[in-house]
Amino acid sequence: MTREIFTGNFTQTDPLPPEAEAAALAVMRSGRLHRYAEAPGEVCEVSLLEREFAAWAGARHALAVASGGYALATALRALGVGPGDKVLTNAFTLAPVPGAIASLGAVPVFVGVTEALVIDVDDLAARAGEARVLLLSHMRGHIADMDRLMEICDAAGIAVVEDCAHTLGARWNGVLSGRHGVIGAYSTQSYKHLNSGEGGLLVTDDADLAAKMILLSGSYMFYERHGAAPPREAFEAARYDMPNISGRMDNLRAAVLRPQLATLGARCAGWNARYRAVEAGLRGTPGLTLIDRPEAEDYVMSSFQFLLLDWAGEAVRAVVDRCRARGVELKWFGASEPHGFTSRYSHWRYTATDPMPQSDRVLAGLIDMRLPLAFSIEDCTLIARIIREEVTACVAGKAPSKAL
Ligand SMILES: Cc1ncc(COP(=O)(O)O)c(C=O)c1O
Repeated sequence: MTREIFTGNFTQTDPLPPEAEAAALAVMRSGRLHRYAEAPGEVCEVSLLEREFAAWAGARHALAVASGGYALATALRALGVGPGDKVLTNAFTLAPVPGAIASLGAVPVFVGVTEALVIDVDDLAARAGEARVLLLSHMRGHIADMDRLMEICDAAGIAVVEDCAHTLGARWNGVLSGRHGVIGAYSTQSYKHLNSGEGGLLVTDDADLAAKMILLSGSYMFYERHGAAPPREAFEAARYDMPNISGRMDNLRAAVLRPQLATLGARCAGWNARYRAVEAGLRGTPGLTLIDRPEAEDYVMSSFQFLLLDWAGEAVRAVVDRCRARGVELKWFGASEPHGFTSRYSHWRYTATDPMPQSDRVLAGLIDMRLPLAFSIEDCTLIARIIREEVTACVAGKAPSKAL
């Protein structure tokens, strides 16, 4: 029997729309790339993006910045996080999240991950006394019970910054991701739902925090020119205290983002159709656990995760290798060494952490895969078939066997 091979590219990104090309050309022809290089009477691309993003998110204020990581650090700094302060965050996330905490000299305190791949709210409740800020990562698009989480944090006086790098457009109980906490932060790095190469966005309804974040982003005191800024009075107290840490977005990136925001809904639907095709193809595979999706969650899944729970490491490795040999690129969060985008809390040795056995069990079996829009639904069905065959083969003992 000939084995099917998938030939698509898992690191594929989508071309930007022609409107983005035209807008980028116009900015380049003007030469006015810098965030404050506006012609008289002009409202620059960054300000327009901030206005449009604030309106999209239903937020009073928005700020466009240089990266998602910069957005996170700026949110924390505006909340007064400084050297030595503890900040609660997910044990399952990507390196820039604890990195943003460490960039302030603050200390990440990791909260466990459940089999649903979300922050363990019971663990969060148990640690609530340890910090006054939670940097909550909706890692890989999985959203925790935000009603319960906000109840815990509100009761404990914990400010929640939502890292929505993977949930731009997603909702919990009808509320957009990024609008539950006091600040929502997004990334527009190429593998996210909006693509400007590098980039980030922040939203908040809090005028004081918005003013602080704008000042921090390097306003050179031109804050009144911002597109979705609070009124002048909001800056009075903070303008002498906030350091200028340049990092607002430039006009070129804002110009390519604006047309993408207009078509975000259609792209989100496209990712979800691909996610559901893979999910349907993997359902019922022996030894493979799919991730339950709660009814209250309105996800946007540009990647796919499943668990090989309680498998021996060598068996998981065999599945990854056998899938790769057939063109299917899987990432494994249980690997002993950090690799590519994939690392876990125990790899971030700049911060001391006690082992977290329940989280380790989940991460040891966690497989992750990108779902580029360039893949067709048929591609996704084929990918699922290949994974299913290779997992089944390993379970049946044709590869290193499952640990029981
Ligand atoms: C979960 C998560 N948060 C934050 C970031 C930071 O975004 P950026 O790469 O734009 O700094 C990333 C980037 O990959 C991420 O995956």
